[in-house]
Amino acid sequence: MALKSVLVSALLHLASLSSSTEVVDYSQYVNPFIGGSGPFDGLAFGGGDIFVGGALPFGVAKVGIDTYETNLSFSTINGGMLHESGTGGAPKYGVVSQMPLVGSLSASSSSGKGGGINILDNRTYWQQRVGEDTARVGYFRTQLESGVAIELSGARHAGTMRYSFPAAAAAAAAAANSSSDDDERHVLVDLSHYLPQEAGGQDSQAYLGGEISIDGATYQGHATYEGGWNDGAPFTIYFCGEFDSAPDEAKTFRGRNTDPIARHHVFSNGPVGQAVFSPNFFASNDTAKTTASSGPMNDRVGAVFSWKADTQMVTSRVGVSFISPSKACKFKDEEIPTWTLNDTVDAAVAEWNRDVFSKIRWSQKDTFRCTVSLYHLIQPEAYEGQIRSLIDIWQHEGYMPDGRSGNFNGLVQGGSNADNVLADAYVKRLTPGSNKAGNINWTAGYAAMRQNAEVAPYNTFSPTDPTASVKEGRGALADWLRLGYVSADGNTRCLSRTVEYSLNDYALSVVAAGGEGAPGDAEKYLNRSAGWQRTWNHDVTSRGFNGFLAPRLGNGSWQNATGYNPALCGGCEWSSITYEATPWEYSFTVPHDMQSLIEHMGGETEFERRLDYIFQPNTSEQDLNANGAGITTIMNIGNEPDFAHPYLYHYLNKQWKSVNQSRQLANQYFRDAQYGVPGNSDAGALNSWLVWQMLGFYPVVTQPVYLLASPWFADVNVTVNGNRTLHIMSSRQGGSSDNDPAAATTTTKALGHRGFYVQSVKVDGKRWDQNWILHDSIMVEGGTIEFEVGDEPVQWEKGDVPPSPGHYVI
Ligand SMILES: *[C@@H]1O[C@H](CO)[C@@H](O)[C@H](O)[C@H]1NC(C)=O
Ligand SMILES: *[C@@H]1O[C@H](CO)[C@@H](O)[C@H](O)[C@H]1NC(C)=O
Ligand SMILES: *[C@@H]1O[C@H](CO)[C@@H](O)[C@H](O)[C@H]1NC(C)=O
Ligand SMILES: *[C@@H]1O[C@H](CO)[C@@H](O)[C@H](O)[C@H]1NC(C)=O
Ligand SMILES: *[C@@H]1O[C@H](CO)[C@@H](O)[C@H](O)[C@H]1NC(C)=O
Ligand SMILES: *[C@@H]1O[C@H](CO)[C@@H](O)[C@H](O)[C@H]1NC(C)=O
Ligand SMILES: *[C@@H]1O[C@H](CO)[C@@H](O)[C@H](O)[C@H]1NC(C)=O
Ligand SMILES: *[C@@H]1O[C@H](CO)[C@@H](O)[C@H](O)[C@H]1NC(C)=O
Ligand SMILES: *[C@@H]1O[C@H](CO)[C@@H](O)[C@H](O)[C@H]1NC(C)=O
Ligand SMILES: *[C@@H]1O[C@H](CO)[C@@H](O)[C@H](O)[C@H]1NC(C)=O
Ligand SMILES: *[C@@H]1O[C@H](CO)[C@@H](O)[C@H](O)[C@H]1NC(C)=O
Ligand SMILES: *[C@@H]1O[C@H](CO)[C@@H](O)[C@H](O)[C@H]1NC(C)=O
Repeated sequence: MALKSVLVSALLHLASLSSSTEVVDYSQYVNPFIGGSGPFDGLAFGGGDIFVGGALPFGVAKVGIDTYETNLSFSTINGGMLHESGTGGAPKYGVVSQMPLVGSLSASSSSGKGGGINILDNRTYWQQRVGEDTARVGYFRTQLESGVAIELSGARHAGTMRYSFPAAAAAAAAAANSSSDDDERHVLVDLSHYLPQEAGGQDSQAYLGGEISIDGATYQGHATYEGGWNDGAPFTIYFCGEFDSAPDEAKTFRGRNTDPIARHHVFSNGPVGQAVFSPNFFASNDTAKTTASSGPMNDRVGAVFSWKADTQMVTSRVGVSFISPSKACKFKDEEIPTWTLNDTVDAAVAEWNRDVFSKIRWSQKDTFRCTVSLYHLIQPEAYEGQIRSLIDIWQHEGYMPDGRSGNFNGLVQGGSNADNVLADAYVKRLTPGSNKAGNINWTAGYAAMRQNAEVAPYNTFSPTDPTASVKEGRGALADWLRLGYVSADGNTRCLSRTVEYSLNDYALSVVAAGGEGAPGDAEKYLNRSAGWQRTWNHDVTSRGFNGFLAPRLGNGSWQNATGYNPALCGGCEWSSITYEATPWEYSFTVPHDMQSLIEHMGGETEFERRLDYIFQPNTSEQDLNANGAGITTIMNIGNEPDFAHPYLYHYLNKQWKSVNQSRQLANQYFRDAQYGVPGNSDAGALNSWLVWQMLGFYPVVTQPVYLLASPWFADVNVTVNGNRTLHIMSSRQGGSSDNDPAAATTTTKALGHRGFYVQSVKVDGKRWDQNWILHDSIMVEGGTIEFEVGDEPVQWEKGDVPPSPGHYVI
């Protein structure tokens, strides 16, 4: 997840829309399972890691079930209120959970279902899911082997869960039947539950304690957790839950923590104990007697609500807040005002349709796949709020975030990429109707960027990479300031950090050039943005090409000058010379100065030859395992550093080659299937690549520039800038096979369809000779762009190649 800091996403599957009117329920075409699993059937590993469950656009709550990584058919617990979507690495969240139970809690034995349920031992109650899960926008349903059906939906900071219990006799048959209490119905609220890292390890989450109290059919409290995907510091979540029918019994419980977590109070050598229960709340109606606190030894705490055996359905609603329990209760009441699950589902569907799906409209009889993650263009107000949040975080915490989760800024993999996000908004003058840069305090915004560029962050000694801060800012800044590049002996990930710091400093230079910052700042940062050139070794040869990024020592010598192979990265890990891509790939990643890059690679002919080469099969030498998505080319569409590579032919005025390569990648690696995304979606980055491809554009981040590709649809309207319309037209017609470059000159011709190679372009009715366009021309006031397409590749563009605004020679 480098370069592109794109946020949340939904992956859509749209099929044969017969007409496009304002009232179309686009949500019916969404397949929420896309990206839910990876190359190994039934495992998320290596896939999109996209969350499946109840959620709103930009929602805090992502309500869903937690599964057991080593056997996904098991549902360990239902209704974790918080989840991450699209991140790889260790799990995060899965907290504030409810689990419906059928059976006796008498626990005559501490393992195995025959002995009843020990609520401290998840092996006594975890459940296999039976039958097919169902998911629609705003709705998820699953069936447990105990006979309980779980349905759920999500609002912005709240969720609702409906449990349909089996008929009493069926429950007794399905559950253990050794006790007369076997058909009791319960809902377990376990504060000590979180999504575990099954393999253990330093980046696992841990439960640090909490408190819960009961008041009739409601409960509230807080719990604290640490660790997980972004190596986060402890964070506290407040919650407030309620059931629609008063339980017959409600008790809290407390039990020893036996999780083996380093440097924590645990009793992992002892057997899993038994919970100590409070009195039944309804015996006294006294909240004080049923409040459970984890106390000095981080005990596990939670609550159990129990209903009579003939209870068939229980609905609950739960609010969460990072601020206070009263906010959590307010969210519960205001966001989920009824006990009818469908009301919450309908509200979610309406919001997704209104704020997301309807922003891009077509009428088109293809079956195709699409993503929505284009906030910048289609959600300007939300996007502006996000930029203000970045700046607020700098104001209150000292640095803007890169991988924020659980109130913690980390992990930073490469550069301080909030800089790119701010610069992109700045050069595109974000806000509707504004002639400057939106409702954003750019004095503060630039100060936040300057903090990244000038002040090395305190090292938090993350176990992921303890050599320098990966929490925020630029961990290798000292090298960067002293040498103008990141040295191989000074820092990990020297090459990928150099490449990203270069673009980050370009980002500062454009905001400085706009009038923020001190005189001379623009020139200073432009100079620094050429740092990648200092670690470019013209003498390195690989596969017949000369000149590559190469690891350089702090004293100026090249590391391992004769043994260096830029097709290898030593695992592309935190301690490697490059992160998640090889030096071969990173050697193309200089979007702000393509002119210098082409010169460094030996001129246009050599650049084109090298670009062609990375799309050749069987050229990849680095084994990326599951993350490689079976890709054998050096070009890896599964990871962000390579996103722009298929479009770089634009800089040679050979747009047809970009169209050809990018379409081929889209067709080959994105599918309407659970393993439908060739790598972690990274909070929508991969998905948005596909949307831009389908619309016929590629945005050049930090520049107000879009490269023109070839739209997949004949007629699309995109709502831009709040209420304007960008009308995209293509002369292309016919079936989906048109999209496949391999079939273009055979099948499509035979069918009499028009191909997808651009022959000419018109913008607002006038002939357009460049293969790129500025943001202002059609993305602000809207407008029309028409693509004339055909079967034959044509070098149609005669104008200037796309700009290299960061061109700098050192
Ligand atoms: C998961 O558990 C089910 C039920 O016990 C079993 O049939 C299946 O083989 C398990 N899968 C794996 C990968 O262990
Ligand atoms: C089950 O509970 C144990 C002990 O608390 C814990 O270590 C483990 O992570 C839990 N497993 C799941 C899948 O929640
Ligand atoms: C239920 O009880 C019967 C008779 O006591 C026994 O044979 C059977 O194995 C039990 N079923 C389960 C699931 O424990
Ligand atoms: C507790 O409150 C409920 C509902 O208000 C009432 O029905 C019950 O009698 C009360 N129990 C005691 C012990 O006061
Ligand atoms: C909920 O909505 C779905 C689809 O909108 C509908 O099929 C279902 O019957 C509704 N359920 C209830 C209980 O109203
Ligand atoms: C897009 O808008 C134009 C102008 O209003 C209209 O003629 C066209 O039918 C629309 N296309 C779609 C697919 O909505
Ligand atoms: C903008 O931010 C700067 C720097 O944080 C601050 O001094 C100034 O008061 C802010 N301006 C407004 C209008 O809030
Ligand atoms: C660019 O930066 C280098 C290294 O810091 C410095 O020596 C040089 O003077 C700078 N050039 C300009 C024009 O500022
Ligand atoms: C830099 O350090 C390396 C390794 O110690 C050494 O081989 C090389 O000669 C040094 N280069 C210079 C210019 O001092
Ligand atoms: C140096 O090159 C050799 C191959 O000649 C390679 O095995 C070794 O890993 C390289 N060392 C470093 C530090 O890159
Ligand atoms: C790539 O390598 C695989 C496995 O060795 C081989 O089957 C395939 O034919 C090769 N493809 C090309 C285009 O060389
Ligand atoms: C769009 O909204 C702005 C601000 O509310 C308004 O001034 C403008 O007239 C609207 N434009 C269109 C085309 O509706």
